[in-house]
Amino acid sequence: MNPHQPSIQEAFDRHASVYDERFSSAVLGERIRSDFWQIADRAFASSRVILDLGAGTGEDAIHFAGNGIQVTAVDVSPGMIARLQSKAMAKGVSGRVRCVTGAMNEYLPDNLRFDGIVSNFGAINCLPDLTWLRATCNVALAPRSPVVLTTMGWLYPLETAVHLLKGQPGHAFRRLKHPCEVKIEGVAVRVYYHSLNQMRRMLGPQFRLERVEGLRAFLPVPGWEHLEPSIFQRALGPIDRFWCRWSVTATLADHFVSVWRYQP
Ligand SMILES: C[S@@+](CC[C@H](N)C(=O)[O-])C[C@H]1O[C@@H](n2cnc3c(N)ncnc32)[C@H](O)[C@@H]1O
Repeated sequence: MNPHQPSIQEAFDRHASVYDERFSSAVLGERIRSDFWQIADRAFASSRVILDLGAGTGEDAIHFAGNGIQVTAVDVSPGMIARLQSKAMAKGVSGRVRCVTGAMNEYLPDNLRFDGIVSNFGAINCLPDLTWLRATCNVALAPRSPVVLTTMGWLYPLETAVHLLKGQPGHAFRRLKHPCEVKIEGVAVRVYYHSLNQMRRMLGPQFRLERVEGLRAFLPVPGWEHLEPSIFQRALGPIDRFWCRWSVTATLADHFVSVWRYQP
């Protein structure tokens, strides 16, 4: 349980039945996740047993299990875990996915030793502080293992531009609020848009940053499909790719992936 957010479980329980339809299975969602897998698969190329924190409906857990990796999937929402379990069963990988219902920031495994940790698509934005991850790694992560974290960025240029054009400056810069309150299925949830420097400080010197890459700065994300077919958007594709891959601008995106090496 996260004392800062008692409502988080209720919000994601309500969201569990529509999450895949609105995000994971949406065309733009599939493209974004596929970009993420390119990064993560390289990071976990020699991993065998990984921990997925805030695993949601299990798109990543099932993907990694399909690659032969044993995955422990932790999520605070029983509704999300139930979806994950039935999907893993349907895909024939349930033998390689172990589910834990609980708060990731309190999860300390007993006997398991991992050689990789992943947390994708904003699960860690639900927490104000990430220092707990040091203890998790200390107890459960083998030295020199990769830690792959996907965080929502504090400025998504396309979102900012669209809201400014609509004369909504409050919305345009809403991610600068710390925390920013959003509604998920009618439940108020606090979101913390951590910068890369804040993450570096919270994780501490035992984590070495290896790579950072943005996921969508000028291109739309699920929910904004109407912007996608325009010539304007197509022209922005190359700019988006350059922006998201350049380390200076990569974190100014809807999400950014940071790949760390744990070196105690
Ligand atoms: C936006 S979803 C992302 C799900 C998944 N990682 C994905 O890539 O589709 C965020 C998930 O984080 C979970 N979550 C939020 N705070 C959590 C916490 N403190 N402990 C465990 N899970 C948490 C939510 O229940 C939700 O399933």
